[in-house]
Amino acid sequence: MITTSWDPALYLSFDDHRARPFHDLVARVGARSPRQVVDLGCGPGHLTGLLAARWPAATVIALDSSAEMVAAARKRGIEAQQLDVVNWSPGPDTDVVISNAVLHWVPTHVRLLPRWIAALPADAWFALQVPDNFDAPSHALIRELLDQPRWRGRVDLGGGTVLEPGGYAELLAGTGAEVDVWATTYQHRLTGPEPVLEWISGTALRPVRDALPADDYAEFRAELAPRLRAAYPHRPDGSTWFPFRRIFAVAHTS
Ligand SMILES: C[S@@+](CC[C@H](N)C(=O)[O-])C[C@H]1O[C@@H](n2cnc3c(N)ncnc32)[C@H](O)[C@@H]1O
Repeated sequence: MITTSWDPALYLSFDDHRARPFHDLVARVGARSPRQVVDLGCGPGHLTGLLAARWPAATVIALDSSAEMVAAARKRGIEAQQLDVVNWSPGPDTDVVISNAVLHWVPTHVRLLPRWIAALPADAWFALQVPDNFDAPSHALIRELLDQPRWRGRVDLGGGTVLEPGGYAELLAGTGAEVDVWATTYQHRLTGPEPVLEWISGTALRPVRDALPADDYAEFRAELAPRLRAAYPHRPDGSTWFPFRRIFAVAHTS
């Protein structure tokens, strides 16, 4: 398995857009007074704080495999711990688990989910959101460029393993939980000269950045930029539409 490095500041540069699915996900979690709330893959911790604000009496656990993200979360006063989610299991008082934009980086999550949900107590909630944009131009163009002779075989993009909404519905229903699954395409309106390149620099391009020396990475970005501009043209007012589909799945145990 490859380990992707993270740049918390770069990731946070589209904070408002990226936070929206988190709010939409958590809105479907009906827990009233959970004992323990787990933010599985907490990133820089800015959203973990919102979980603590919604459930002030709960113990909030924040986990992430990235040392950089854990450090950023701790700077915000979140007692985040560095842990790969594959090594995590719910405790007997884990009443809420939120995993926002994380499990697509974990190819084994489809095997882990039923195990995690089976280990939750009664009346617990497991809520996940994963991007479903791997066939969108933002990602297809990275793969297309990586297939050129100059770049071929140099980068393992990792991740990108998600089910269709129906797949998550069936997987979670198999645990006996009540299930709520949906997909949404957000129509993000971005500004700036290369907004889609900037957006993916904080996420999808991280494995490319990790695999290539700095000069090569700059060259790769320079080759990618005009392709992205053609796929996501500037509007007359300078803004750019960036459609982004995401899948949401919530399980409520009985
Ligand atoms: C796109 S960020 C999402 C962060 C946060 N949940 C949010 O919504 O802003 C993805 C996060 O997943 C973390 N991550 C990826 N694979 C992981 C793993 N196997 N175990 C724990 N965290 C992981 C990354 O370190 C990164 O912080």
